Amino acid sequence: MVVDWVRLKLDLDAFDNARFEPYLRRCRQAGIEFTTMAALGDAAEHRHALYELNKTCSADIPERGEFYTLDEYLAQRIETPTYDPRGVVLAVDGGSWIGMAATSIRPEGHAFSEMTGVLASHRGRGLSLAMKVLAIRYARSRGMRWLRTLHHPGNTSAIGMNRRLGFVDEEPRPAMA
Ligand SMILES: CC(C)(COP(=O)(O)OP(=O)(O)OC[C@H]1O[C@@H](n2cnc3c(N)ncnc32)[C@H](O)[C@@H]1OP(=O)(O)O)[C@@H](O)C(=O)NCCC(=O)NCCS
Repeated sequence: MVVDWVRLKLDLDAFDNARFEPYLRRCRQAGIEFTTMAALGDAAEHRHALYELNKTCSADIPERGEFYTLDEYLAQRIETPTYDPRGVVLAVDGGSWIGMAATSIRPEGHAFSEMTGVLASHRGRGLSLAMKVLAIRYARSRGMRWLRTLHHPGNTSAIGMNRRLGFVDEEPRPAMA
């Protein structure tokens, strides 16, 4: 079946940081802590925890299909040249990991939003926007102007979240098998 993937991009030079910083502040005031894989230590136990969180959140991606095994995840998502633990933002509530936003720097010269996920128990509170503020900070710190991402057209929450931040459609929007 042909899937008309939604390809989005955000101009980080034009991103209105001041508009979204309050989401970060409000989440912190509500007791949510934000950290990164680099700050926590990019160790095997943390990679396993990241896998579990990513797997749980990905179950809600339309037509995602079966998720990687841990070994596949490590090989295809972590032990790759573009994985950067500084680009993996984690949201923590009472010691539990409840959200992630993973960003990579692509060799083509742009940042790519690999995965944003929030546990169902914590959705609808601005957590994804707060994590994206930090993800954008990371991409800017690496000198990137563009942050890109790709979504299944049925993923209305993720598309809505990115459009809320100012992501626009890539033009042209090619159909992909
Ligand atoms: C997409 C996802 C990360 C959003 O997380 P969240 O913390 O609940 O989102 P927020 O509360 O920060 O909402 C941010 C914006 O996203 C949009 N949004 C969130 N949920 C939405 C929904 N169910 N339908 C439409 N838009 C939605 C809204 O524009 C919202 O802003 P607003 O409430 O001010 O209008 C979360 O639903 C999720 O983890 N989904 C499963 C994993 C996934 O699909 N990830 C994306 C693929 S990489």
